[in-house]
Amino acid sequence: MTVPAPIAMLAELTHRCPLSCPYCSNPIELAQKDRELPTETWADVFRQAADLGVLQLHLSGGEPAARRDLADLVRAAREAGLYTNLITSAIGLTERRLKELDEAGLDHVQLSLQGTDAAMADRIGGYKGGFARKMQAAGWIVDVGFPLTLNAVVHRQNLHQLPRAIEMAVEMKARRIEVAIVQFHGWALKNRAAMMPTREQAEEASRIVAQARADLKGKLVIDYVPADYHSDYPKRCMGGWGTTGLNVTPDGSVLPCHAAETITGLSFDNVRDRPLVDIWYKGAAFNAYRGEDWMQEPCRSCDRRKLDFGGCRCQAMAIANDPNATDPVCIKSPLHDRMRALADGFSHDDDAELTYRAGP
Ligand code: SF4
Ligand code: FES
Repeated sequence: MTVPAPIAMLAELTHRCPLSCPYCSNPIELAQKDRELPTETWADVFRQAADLGVLQLHLSGGEPAARRDLADLVRAAREAGLYTNLITSAIGLTERRLKELDEAGLDHVQLSLQGTDAAMADRIGGYKGGFARKMQAAGWIVDVGFPLTLNAVVHRQNLHQLPRAIEMAVEMKARRIEVAIVQFHGWALKNRAAMMPTREQAEEASRIVAQARADLKGKLVIDYVPADYHSDYPKRCMGGWGTTGLNVTPDGSVLPCHAAETITGLSFDNVRDRPLVDIWYKGAAFNAYRGEDWMQEPCRSCDRRKLDFGGCRCQAMAIANDPNATDPVCIKSPLHDRMRALADGFSHDDDAELTYRAGP
């Protein structure tokens, strides 16, 4: 098969983060600060990514603002010709730092929202006073002139706040809101019982999003990630394995998706040892689930296989214990009923407590 060049790269600059969201998709084993790539190595990785064909760079974490060299990293990415998007909780961003980032050429800011009031946001983020600081930073982000996307992760505990989150996006002059029903990867897997939405909530969320899209057409773009476990068909995860994007972890491992390290048996190359172009085209992990040769039935002969590539490999690993299996979300999977039972069981566990992410 012809392998396309990647469009986007997610640079996980650090796993350090002042928040401890229970839905964090970072791995259970976090990279320590002394393992993080230094500024000049990241700058080289950005140049290699641009040469490879990457257009968009998402600067993420953990909390990327925990890196004191964030403005230098943005400058290096812009010099390499990349469009730069900062994915942040805004904790650690002052007005002065935002102006520095603007001068460095940052193109866009994506701000996470843990809840629509301090009680909810501070409880979910595990950080007292975080909501107030985030709201103050949101004002600076808009004043400096960055296009803003709000990223609202919703789950059983805060789904009733979804209409208000959409209203807030309009009030904050965001151009876009991403409403993502929590996806259970990495740390979040520990919190399925505390965060799984009920089927009714998942359906209500879809209704709210559809109505808001109609009402706010031309004013606010709404991206939507529906509740995976309650669906009948899986998502086209990562746009297809090894087709559109790649992730670089704080210590330089290059992954086909952010949760790929959960797949046992895969080995990952590191930017310290191998050029990015080689890793993308020839790396074992990137070739493991490219195309269709790896597929089993029912995916192998299914009409939808070019639409969803058999769904999410990490989810197949987590639920079927087999990364080559059909994503158990799929109605054709022999495990679909089990997935549904898991979703219903978790979503009615009223005694489950949140398990907060521990820092590196
Ligand atoms: Fe997608 Fe496989 Fe399900 Fe077909 S059987 S819809 S290819 S996951
Ligand atoms: Fe890894 Fe879906 S999260 S393939």
